[in-house]
Amino acid sequence: MKIITFANHKGGVGKTTTVANIGYALAHNHKKRVLMIDMDPQTNLTTHFGLYARPENTMYEILRGSADIVSSIQELSPKLHLLPSSLDVTNTESELQGVTGREFILREALESIQGYDAVLIDTPPSLGILTVNAFTASTDICIVVQTEFFALQGLAKLYEIITIVQKRTNPQLTISGVIPTMFDRRKGMHVEALQALEERFKKELFNVPVTEAIALVEAASAGKSIFEYKPSSKAAEQYDELAKIIAKKILR
Ligand SMILES: Nc1ncnc2c1ncn2[C@@H]1O[C@H](COP(=O)(O)OP(=O)(O)O)[C@@H](O)[C@H]1O
Ligand SMILES: [Mg+2]
Repeated sequence: MKIITFANHKGGVGKTTTVANIGYALAHNHKKRVLMIDMDPQTNLTTHFGLYARPENTMYEILRGSADIVSSIQELSPKLHLLPSSLDVTNTESELQGVTGREFILREALESIQGYDAVLIDTPPSLGILTVNAFTASTDICIVVQTEFFALQGLAKLYEIITIVQKRTNPQLTISGVIPTMFDRRKGMHVEALQALEERFKKELFNVPVTEAIALVEAASAGKSIFEYKPSSKAAEQYDELAKIIAKKILR
């Protein structure tokens, strides 16, 4: 079972959109059993799938140890499951202060689940205890980057945290993918940023940039994946291609 965290401490780069659509594609188009985990107190992934009411058990209860993970998982379709987040997760940063082994809570919780080919973790735009829990629990990281001028510079801090996690809590953690998003090939700046990413991540870059597409925004607000909302769109094609690459390179 591969556990993949989609990361970038910058907000608004397309992490949640990527987890939602790759999760859907892996489950519905490629017959994988997928669990998506929402670790962001903004609950964007949870609402992306139309879960607006606060479920009884969420990431918050998991992190404070008052619920078990299996009974907290929601079934969106037979092969696509979701562990929801809630606004209360904002409190965990302070509530877990001083708790011994707090970096390992998610990893321990995940030991009791089985039967998935892929677990996809969506992270908040920060590098605090939530993201460190995700990194500690993961086998792989996919970095999601917007193809803009400062894309590469912004990754330095992320690298620093990944290196610390590899040293202290999870030596097997690997950066397995870099996914460029919001790409517009008419913009010189975007083309240059994509070239810089290609040079920097020769092995890791998934060379299928997700283009800027309003349909992705509309799909999210309709509570749907792009495959349900606009299956004929370029964005659907690109996310399906990315799911294929992940299935081949990471899930194998
Ligand atoms: N390829 C894209 N083209 C246009 N808008 C996008 C694209 N990907 C995501 N968005 C929109 O940009 C906003 C931020 O994306 P989101 O996935 O929530 O980023 P993050 O999780 O990194 O904060 C959302 O409104 C989303 O619908
Ligand atoms: Mg998000």
